[in-house]
Amino acid sequence: MRRLAKVELHLHLEGAAPPAFIRGLAAEKHMDISGIFAAEGGYAWKDFPHFLKVYEAASSVLRTPADYRRLLLAVAEERAADGVLYGEIFLSPDFCGGGELAAWRDYLGAMAEAAREAEATLGITLRGVVTAVRHFGPEQARRAALCAAETAGDFICGFGIGGDETVLSPADFSWGFDCAREAGLGLTAHAGEWRGPEGIRDSLAAWAPSRLGHGVRAIEDLALVDLLAEREIHLELCPGSNLALGLYPDIRHHPVAELERRGVKLSISTDDPPFFRTSLAKEFAALHRAFDWEEPQFRRIALQALDAAFCDPDTRKRIT
Ligand code: ADE
Ligand code: ZN
Repeated sequence: MRRLAKVELHLHLEGAAPPAFIRGLAAEKHMDISGIFAAEGGYAWKDFPHFLKVYEAASSVLRTPADYRRLLLAVAEERAADGVLYGEIFLSPDFCGGGELAAWRDYLGAMAEAAREAEATLGITLRGVVTAVRHFGPEQARRAALCAAETAGDFICGFGIGGDETVLSPADFSWGFDCAREAGLGLTAHAGEWRGPEGIRDSLAAWAPSRLGHGVRAIEDLALVDLLAEREIHLELCPGSNLALGLYPDIRHHPVAELERRGVKLSISTDDPPFFRTSLAKEFAALHRAFDWEEPQFRRIALQALDAAFCDPDTRKRIT
């Protein structure tokens, strides 16, 4: 499974931070965040609100562009070992300089340089999708969108929103999506994870994204599933994340196979792999065991992911 060529569209940079990396950085900075780790060394959290808190505590040790450079290299190394050829990483100005544009430029410079280094040494191509955090509120989301629009280019190719989907309504965050669209960025939005079909419909109406992060709960409304298939809205599915967070009891109850059968365009990602004790190889192995997915299916999914990728056409062609 590690050998299969993979394309991953949904990965949060801080959420991909290896626990040993965060622990090491905390020790260097004499910060005590031991409460976020389990006895076996991985991250410890109990439900989604607590996961968000632990995520933020882990992120609190990342304080400089140099920290983010090291983090991106560590994450690139793991993704390359997992067989990823192309990946889009969710980057949040909220964590990189607090949403302030000048600081964001410094962080972004360090991360883009690390991505170039990873491409040269590991053969993995990475792009950045600026991601607002919904529970930080509309004003912070507006700042994140401005950071995205001001730095749109080769590396930053998209804008999206994650965090707690139950906070406020999509219309409260429309300004950021309009601003990012005008800057030529691709658009994606977390929806249909903590809210049902109505959350997806509201998000599509307010933001018109070409992709949805998760979107799994569309399965609760088959007319919506048909609409997603017809409009070719791509779902960035993260089955292991959904299972770890308790949306479904096991992979056999996850709607991934049914969404596929119903013609929805989709791909498979890990979201925050160490938090959910997963990797793409593990995701693929679970899909193989549960639904008999074989190599041609995985290849088709990788191509669908590339079709939905926000990078420039030349990069896409080179990966294909
Ligand atoms: N940020 C990181 N992981 C997330 C998830 N699964 N849902 C919403 N926001 C997130
Ligand atoms: Zn996510």
